[in-house]
Amino acid sequence: MKKITALLLAVLMLATLCCSCGTNNGDTNTTTDKVKVIDVALSEESYAFCVSKTDAELLGQVNAYLKKIKEDGTFDAICDKYFGDGTPAQITSATEDASKDQLVVATSTGFEPFEMVDAGKFSGIDLEIADGLAKYLGKELVIKDMQFEAVVTSVQQGLCDIGMAGLTITPARQEVVTFSDSYYSANQVLVVPADNTEFDACKTADNVVAILNAKNADCKIGCQRGTTGAIYIEGDSDDPDGYGFAGLPATKMEYDYAALAFTAMINGEVDYVIVDDAPANAIAKAVNG
Ligand code: ARG
Repeated sequence: MKKITALLLAVLMLATLCCSCGTNNGDTNTTTDKVKVIDVALSEESYAFCVSKTDAELLGQVNAYLKKIKEDGTFDAICDKYFGDGTPAQITSATEDASKDQLVVATSTGFEPFEMVDAGKFSGIDLEIADGLAKYLGKELVIKDMQFEAVVTSVQQGLCDIGMAGLTITPARQEVVTFSDSYYSANQVLVVPADNTEFDACKTADNVVAILNAKNADCKIGCQRGTTGAIYIEGDSDDPDGYGFAGLPATKMEYDYAALAFTAMINGEVDYVIVDDAPANAIAKAVNG
């Protein structure tokens, strides 16, 4: 009798164990994930490349090239590599040499899937377009990798021919450089620690913003320095050259790279991160493993 009870108990324990395993497996890996992207568009933005205000010739060539690759399927094929499971190109940069006919591109890597670098080899949607554009123009490609904030300035100052960096067209930037036709639509999104459930029921930007507006300056939101994510947090609606973001009561915490804002959140230094949607998902995937 005792043996049977023990056996029953053992079977029961095993069943409970199996059940709880089952529940964990059914759950989308929440036990190991570190971060979670809230799938609600907080802004509507358009990416474009920027050239010097005085370079009408390059502007025309860039727009013609964009039109061509949109029409002939090249652009979609490039995007598919990064959003699908294709193999990204390995792009090399020539050394800058004023005596050569070069296309000098300003970018800021660490913004997957638009611009990445690994052991001197570049990849990403923008840089594959850069490579194609250089070939189309019969020029040698030079990639200058810098902090994001420097991209627009370096084009404005004529240090680089074109900025290709997941750049959102903003009124303030339009004051200093000229944008090409837009090639991609993006949004800011909120990223939270994986175990945070505050925003789970949110369906719209208003839902998310209502929760964020109920916070105060003790709430810290991380972003990449100089980006529209930063403008979204601080707000610019009283600036005539602004993008029209209302701003949040939280404290803005700027990092040189988007991934550093994620690290800060994982380390508990910031509560949330606001960043462009595609990089948010790419970085989250990398961080969650
Ligand atoms: N789209 C945002 C902006 O224009 C972020 C771009 C960040 N780009 C980058 N390569 N890090 O402000």
